[in-house]
Amino acid sequence: MTTRIQRFDSVTSTNDTAKELLAEGAQSGTIVVAQTQTEGRGRSGRTWFSPDEDNLYLSMIHQSALDPEHIAGLTLDVAVAVAEALVTCGFEPELRWPNDILINGRKVGGILCELELKPCLAVIVGIGLNINGQDFPPEIEGIATSLLLAGHEPIETSSVERALIARLTDQVTRYERAGAPDIDTYLRYFRSIGRPVNLPSGEMGKVRGITDEGGLQVDVDGELRVMRSGEVTLR
Ligand code: BTN
Repeated sequence: MTTRIQRFDSVTSTNDTAKELLAEGAQSGTIVVAQTQTEGRGRSGRTWFSPDEDNLYLSMIHQSALDPEHIAGLTLDVAVAVAEALVTCGFEPELRWPNDILINGRKVGGILCELELKPCLAVIVGIGLNINGQDFPPEIEGIATSLLLAGHEPIETSSVERALIARLTDQVTRYERAGAPDIDTYLRYFRSIGRPVNLPSGEMGKVRGITDEGGLQVDVDGELRVMRSGEVTLR
């Protein structure tokens, strides 16, 4: 897989810029990296705090030959790529289904995959990683962290970026071949089994595992149910 990085000082969201570049004919494998985002987005319409503080904000265009319904599981393989990049930096990351990356129980990174149908089927794989940031707004202060705050020496974003892109291209290539996430590897970083979870119905369940397609398996009073991305949030 060939990658080409396009760098920007400031964008609204690297996902938006990647979509614009796709519309202008950019190739699969194009990666947008920005110094800061003015409208960084997370899942479920949340804001992704994106100060100009040596963090990583990147989005990759991936044109997939898979059916759109098989693409949801890609997020899990991307999460594995981020986790493995952090391992090479000396951390023991945890993955919280489906798209959170944690260190010491606090969120250090997140993934936002968005599907574009025009001008061709493409996934915009957006990744945010807090590297040298130290201050967070009050609403996320107690739950967010950065590599620096988690005990690392100040670190060049470029070295994390290199490690991440190498793992990301491997994982995306693997996913395209398999059409399903590598659950065994995901489970190495997944520590939520047995934890309680609130379902949208108001019921309580317990996490049992991850299905082959990447859904969250939840036990509700002995009945196994499968949650899709966006249906529940694990704590
Ligand atoms: C989440 O945890 O809810 C997902 C966060 C994803 C943030 C990244 S930063 C780069 C890319 N551009 C965005 O606007 N969002 C993603």
